[in-house]
Amino acid sequence: MTIVIFGGNGDLAHRKLLPALYNLHVDGLLPPRIAIAGVGRKDTPDAAYREFAKDGITKFSRRPIDEQAWQTFAAMLFFVKASLDGEQVLAPLGARLDIIEHERGLPGDRIYYFALPPALFVPTVKQLDRARFVNRTGDPVARLIVEKPIGRDLDSARAVNDAIAGVFDERQIYRIDHYLGKETVQNILVMRFANSIFEPLFNQKYVDHVQITVAEEEGVGTRAGYYEQAGALRDMVQNHMLQLVALVAMEPPHALDADVIRDEKLEVLESLRPIEGAAIDANVVRAQYAAGFDLGKPVPGYREEQGVDPCSRTETFVALQIFIDNWRWAGVPFFLRTGKRLPKRASEISVHLKEVPPILFNANPAARLDPNVLSVRIQPDEGFSLGISSKLPGPHVRVYPVKMDFHYGSTFGGSSPEAYERLLLDVIAGDPTLFMRRDAVEAAWRWVMPILERWAETTTDSLPAYPAGDWGPVEAGQLVESTGRRWRAL
Ligand SMILES: NC(=O)c1ccc[n+]([C@@H]2O[C@H](COP(=O)([O-])OP(=O)(O)OC[C@H]3O[C@@H](n4cnc5c(N)ncnc54)[C@H](OP(=O)(O)O)[C@@H]3O)[C@@H](O)[C@H]2O)c1
Repeated sequence: MTIVIFGGNGDLAHRKLLPALYNLHVDGLLPPRIAIAGVGRKDTPDAAYREFAKDGITKFSRRPIDEQAWQTFAAMLFFVKASLDGEQVLAPLGARLDIIEHERGLPGDRIYYFALPPALFVPTVKQLDRARFVNRTGDPVARLIVEKPIGRDLDSARAVNDAIAGVFDERQIYRIDHYLGKETVQNILVMRFANSIFEPLFNQKYVDHVQITVAEEEGVGTRAGYYEQAGALRDMVQNHMLQLVALVAMEPPHALDADVIRDEKLEVLESLRPIEGAAIDANVVRAQYAAGFDLGKPVPGYREEQGVDPCSRTETFVALQIFIDNWRWAGVPFFLRTGKRLPKRASEISVHLKEVPPILFNANPAARLDPNVLSVRIQPDEGFSLGISSKLPGPHVRVYPVKMDFHYGSTFGGSSPEAYERLLLDVIAGDPTLFMRRDAVEAAWRWVMPILERWAETTTDSLPAYPAGDWGPVEAGQLVESTGRRWRAL
């Protein structure tokens, strides 16, 4: 196998891809014969590229460098200079890859990874076609990994998908949503379908509501150029959060087959109740962080960040109330919130069960019992917990909320593989289960489009603000409180 990373000297390769490949190598999970070729515009000798990789691994790998493992890994790394601007630019790359593959006895099975600015996805796939790098027969293997974002709206996503489909079959395409590679996210299906205790409860009969939070402590940092064009709805909700909704809400698939699972997830996306017109103002809150504090240190507001338009209307926070109009979830609100500069980094799904009847222990209207909550912590401190009511020891019957808590770290020890490790391994094995199929990407865009369009039209009202270090604007609290519920404290 040859892995060709377009954008091989970029930030993603440095922080995620090369460290992930190194860890797979240390675990003995890479194919015995493999070459990894980074591609970029800068003139970079192989030795310098290996140093670049070593630096990334030293700084970002979950395991420290082991000199012996590093030496064998370094020997797999190459760099090929190629600018993707212009015509017929891949001929020299093809010649170099042929030599590398010949020297290492590789059959020419290749994975092409687009770790590139999204504007280069379409031109590069056309270049691959012109250079005759791709065949649809599977011999030799040609697979494509595409990073997010796929488009910035439905039309542009379709254009990217059309261009890629002109060169690769859908089964050769692996659209990354790195959230789906996280252990805890994969565990959602295991938790739901490998235990008889939870699944019977996952429906409108027993579930009062579901909350999904993806909170970032960091501000926009150095990514203003990208983020100004994206905002929280595009950056987080359209992809990661709707994927989490799909996993929590999907019907049991009849097999662990990639397309069976992806069909069931698609069903959920297609059952999302459209939020349109005035309903958007009532069900979707957007906001921007103002100056505030991060761990006691003053930090600037979004509009004061480097590279951000001082009049920017890009949302750094979004909260939504959504419904899935199918039999299982009829009438159950799903509350989603995500934002930058929130008090801490935390991603969690919580399933809030209905209260017990107001009889016996729950009879006092002034002291209602806490309903049971099943919470899945995606990061940090991966695990899940179930909040239940228990009797406080002593002569009186006093009920107290306790937790049954499972922590990955203490139960299984060691560090879990990074999402990119799992995802790269799956592409090498040809398993697309954890990747986004074209129809799902477009269904998610179709659903968010009315919101994006309304926001684009409403440019006069002021955007709600929240001080950096707070859990979003008051409007986000009101969104949930107006239904008689509260955001869960994280
Ligand atoms: N960084 C992350 O954590 C992250 C997370 C999720 C998704 N992504 C996605 O991953 C992709 C890459 O992101 P990144 O952060 O790694 O970007 P980056 O640091 O800006 O790297 C871009 C890469 O593309 C190469 N490149 C740019 N223009 C080129 C051209 N005309 N011809 C050939 N190569 C060219 C650059 O090579 P030269 O420098 O040699 O020109 C560089 O290696 C983007 O689609 C991004 O949305 C990134």
